[in-house]
Amino acid sequence: MSLLEVKGLNVGFDTPEGEVHAVNNLNFSLNAGDALAIVGESGSGKTQTVMAIMGLLAENGHVNGQAMFKGKDLLQMSTSELNKHRGSEIAMIFQDPMTSLNPYLSIEKQMIEVVIHHQGLNKAEARAHAVEMLRAVRIPDPERSIRQYPHEFSGGMRQRVIVAMGLLCEPDLLIADEPTTALDVTVQTHISHLMSALRQNSNAAIILITHDLGVVAGLCDRVLVMYAGEAVECGTVEQIYYDPKHPYTQGLLNSVPRLDRPEDTELHAIPGNPPNLLSLPEGCKFRDRCPKAYAACTETPPMQIDEGQHAHCCFRGASE
Ligand SMILES: Nc1ncnc2c1ncn2[C@@H]1O[C@H](COP(=O)(O)OP(=O)(O)O)[C@@H](O)[C@H]1O
Ligand SMILES: [Mg+2]
Repeated sequence: MSLLEVKGLNVGFDTPEGEVHAVNNLNFSLNAGDALAIVGESGSGKTQTVMAIMGLLAENGHVNGQAMFKGKDLLQMSTSELNKHRGSEIAMIFQDPMTSLNPYLSIEKQMIEVVIHHQGLNKAEARAHAVEMLRAVRIPDPERSIRQYPHEFSGGMRQRVIVAMGLLCEPDLLIADEPTTALDVTVQTHISHLMSALRQNSNAAIILITHDLGVVAGLCDRVLVMYAGEAVECGTVEQIYYDPKHPYTQGLLNSVPRLDRPEDTELHAIPGNPPNLLSLPEGCKFRDRCPKAYAACTETPPMQIDEGQHAHCCFRGASE
């Protein structure tokens, strides 16, 4: 049984202009110890995918499909049932630290509460564990810093606190949404190492959401590429980097610097904009921006999977 199996996930938002189709028929699964990256341009539905799974959609959002975690559907759980899993078995590191920190409580109170609640440690043990975690994410003087309130930290330090909280309970599944975006490269690398260690030591599964394909290679073994709320390609890091099948994935790869290319290689952003999620076009959603589009693309391309489990959704098939 998979640790997490997401099937036919749809996420929509009611707005005065109509329904925003943020995630459309998304499928993926993870076993214990797997690390999956979800990549795609801003607005492609990465964050709302995990928000929906965690029961954290905005008021105007709605979800259908399945998200089976250890055999039970997270989407059918009550808030109190979800709370039993959130923070302990499933931890989430959010993009915006201020959404996951309570501004009125010291870091100590917030961290200790989680540990006492989920790991049954006493207060002194919980505090020592929390201080260790802060030290691990390189918060200076953690014994003193732990007594501070969120607003007393800089943005980068707050982000590290969030990472420490995410790792605190040794979750079975860690969902990290752009966890290192606001941090400098040294700290980014360090935090990637901490996540790898969590994976190795406790066989945790990781979902890493990022637009930075550079971070992916170090930490993840599979990559799911999203465009306009849909999966367009999924494969191992090697398949996605060295044999991308979908023109969108190829475009993403051409828009980021890579170590395996000469430094002066020109980078090309994908021209044009993603489609309007209020009225998605028929057929391939990428066709208006696609250099390889042809007549067939007005039909919806089926997901094709080869023997190596490399899946892509484009009529062009091979990397032509
Ligand atoms: N509460 C909301 N109401 C309407 N649209 C929303 C809401 N929250 C998110 N969206 C839209 O959902 C789409 C997907 O967003 P998101 O998952 O955050 O993208 P990203 O891939 O950048 O994480 C975006 O177009 C966003 O504007
Ligand atoms: Mg996002």
